[in-house]
Amino acid sequence: MNNKDIFERERISFLPTYKRIPIEINKGQGVYLFDKENNRYLDFMTGLGVNALGYAHPKIIEAVTNQINKFSHLSNFFITNVQAVFAEKLLEFAGMDKLYFTNSGTEAIEGTIKLIRMLNGPDKKIFSLTNSFHGRTYGSLSLTARENHRKGFEPFLPNIEQINFDDVNDLLLKIDDNTAAVFIEFIQGEGGVQPVSREFVEQLFSLKEKFNFLIVADEIQTGMGRTGLNYAFQHYKIEPDVVVVAKAIGGGLPIGAFMVKRSFKRCYCIR
Ligand SMILES: Cc1ncc(COP(=O)(O)O)c(C=O)c1O
Repeated sequence: MNNKDIFERERISFLPTYKRIPIEINKGQGVYLFDKENNRYLDFMTGLGVNALGYAHPKIIEAVTNQINKFSHLSNFFITNVQAVFAEKLLEFAGMDKLYFTNSGTEAIEGTIKLIRMLNGPDKKIFSLTNSFHGRTYGSLSLTARENHRKGFEPFLPNIEQINFDDVNDLLLKIDDNTAAVFIEFIQGEGGVQPVSREFVEQLFSLKEKFNFLIVADEIQTGMGRTGLNYAFQHYKIEPDVVVVAKAIGGGLPIGAFMVKRSFKRCYCIR
């Protein structure tokens, strides 16, 4: 048994990537967290948008326990009923047609970048918006515009650039027939809960008509009903080509996915 203070142990054993809150959490129940002394905290962080159904939800406990009693991991060489049902429900919820599962949001973004490169080759540009956050692995970090995450990790993937958040003039200036895709958080999360304007979204979709690029909705933080509708993009009454999800879809387990419309014929070429 290690008698050292937990924060001292953290300092000794962990790389210092996070400034942790000095509370030792003992358990969670519903919307509350409890520390070792049983002090109760109302949790507004929800695991950074992960625990949409709260802590220790009985249905999640039941589903996970049932599943883990049968098997926890299977390779992608097998298909199971539980995976098929999950896929069908997610697709229906988003109005999408096909998906690919990952272990995290950042991997789902990586998969989407690969899909875009596969369809367009390496030279066409992929855009994200300034102030955006799309993850911390190299592809998603190449999209992430926030300087505090990027600093010290250059060089990033080539042909990824940023459009100024909500700046219609910049959008009109940068998008052309060399554009492969635009990644957008319809409500920026890490960027300070900032919705993009209707005017910007309308321009983006009319440019898409003209130049035929893909619009990718990053719904990793905003998805699964967190903004009042299933997905934040639905507030704008438009339909993106790709919807990327994670966090709340796993109810605390590490799961992500990217979902596409059937119109993506070429990426189904292996079937
Ligand atoms: C909008 C957005 N995209 C991507 C990510 C990365 O997801 P993950 O932490 O599951 O890798 C996050 C995480 O906070 C996010 O908020």
